[in-house]
Amino acid sequence: MNILVTGGCGFIGSHFVEYFLKTYPESKVINIDKLTYAAHPDMAKHLGTLAPDRYSFFQFDIADSNLKSWAKNQSFDAIVNFAAETHVDRSILDPDSFIRTNVLGVQNLLAIARENGNKRFVHVSTDEVYGSLKPSDPTSVETSQLDPNSPYAASKASADLIALANARTYKQPVLITRCTNNYGPYQFPEKLLPLLIANALEDKPIPVYGDGKQVRDWIYVVDHCRGIDAVLQKGRPGEIYNISSSGEAHNIDVIKKVLDMLHKPHSLITFVGDRPAHDRRYGLNSSKIKQELGWSPKTTFEEGLKKTVDWYLSNVDWWKKVRGAEYLKYYQSNYENKFGSESKKPKEVNS
Ligand code: NAD
Ligand code: DAU
Repeated sequence: MNILVTGGCGFIGSHFVEYFLKTYPESKVINIDKLTYAAHPDMAKHLGTLAPDRYSFFQFDIADSNLKSWAKNQSFDAIVNFAAETHVDRSILDPDSFIRTNVLGVQNLLAIARENGNKRFVHVSTDEVYGSLKPSDPTSVETSQLDPNSPYAASKASADLIALANARTYKQPVLITRCTNNYGPYQFPEKLLPLLIANALEDKPIPVYGDGKQVRDWIYVVDHCRGIDAVLQKGRPGEIYNISSSGEAHNIDVIKKVLDMLHKPHSLITFVGDRPAHDRRYGLNSSKIKQELGWSPKTTFEEGLKKTVDWYLSNVDWWKKVRGAEYLKYYQSNYENKFGSESKKPKEVNS
């Protein structure tokens, strides 16, 4: 199978392209990416070195209407869409770019898949579309109600609905994956785990939103990629597949665990104001993909965390460069003040 991947220079997309090229030595990958702040431009070259004859890269915005005519001259059997604006905090500050890419961009790609022979379309979505669970709630299943709380989650839920409507209306072979919080190498250091590791290594405070008792369900990025591949190869068109490693943990416990791994003091933990509409708990039931497609995660949280921490320790130049001047400018101008002046104040919390 030859595939068109979008967002292949981002965190999960780049792992997926690498996984795909290595797993299927006959297959070709076309990667298109807008190269936003979240992309790793070096990745476009690095992936090329893995399989120079089977990989090509084009800088493109998935919401650009010119993409349609370009795509007519390309050869692919399926589209796998990773391209998105992905950081919840940024969606609170700048929702417009989330609607443009995550909704209009997906609409554009769906039309491209249809116009090029009604190609298989895997849309990579998220557990955030289900909204927040209470501590005693069962984990979300594919038929659980959509109840997004952030502009990011709402944009992803919108795209899911549009994709499903296309499947029903045009008999388009659309498949949706919804995964939990990923972690691993090459994650942009504004997300909790890489931010935590980088700040700890620089002996900087670790900002903990609210009381730190929120629950996230963690999965190692390569397990997510294997799940997406299972859906691409064997999933039933029109279906949604949750992907989870059943790795629920309180933020504060994850933070303490990583500080211990790095031999850094818990005194770096700094409670700050909360993210507006902060989802308290995510937890996914992924029985469907396990039973139907035979997928299961291979990496435990302990193993994955160790691999991740070791990678950030060995790649200090990478994350220092990523946290360079542009990143700092953005953070200083709006990010540190993001949820009002209260958010900067350390808070007293009994942990
Ligand atoms: P990321 O932010 O690391 O990378 C996103 C990539 O998309 C970047 O390379 C960026 O340049 C590209 N991009 C953004 N806008 C674009 C546009 N308009 N046109 C073309 N390319 C564009 O994201 P990620 O964490 O790798 O997430 C990938 C996908 O997986 C997203 O759809 C996200 O919603 C989903 N997802 C992420 C997680 C997670 O924990 N990170 C969990 C579940 C689902
Ligand atoms: O659940 C899947 C989602 O996971 C993906 O769809 C999103 O693209 C991805 O960004 C991620 O969303 P979260 O909001 O869960 O991830 P983030 O790393 O931003 O935050 C994880 C938790 O840690 C969340 O409860 C907020 C908290 N947090 C985050 C940051 C950045 C802090 O306490 N302090 C921080 O500095």
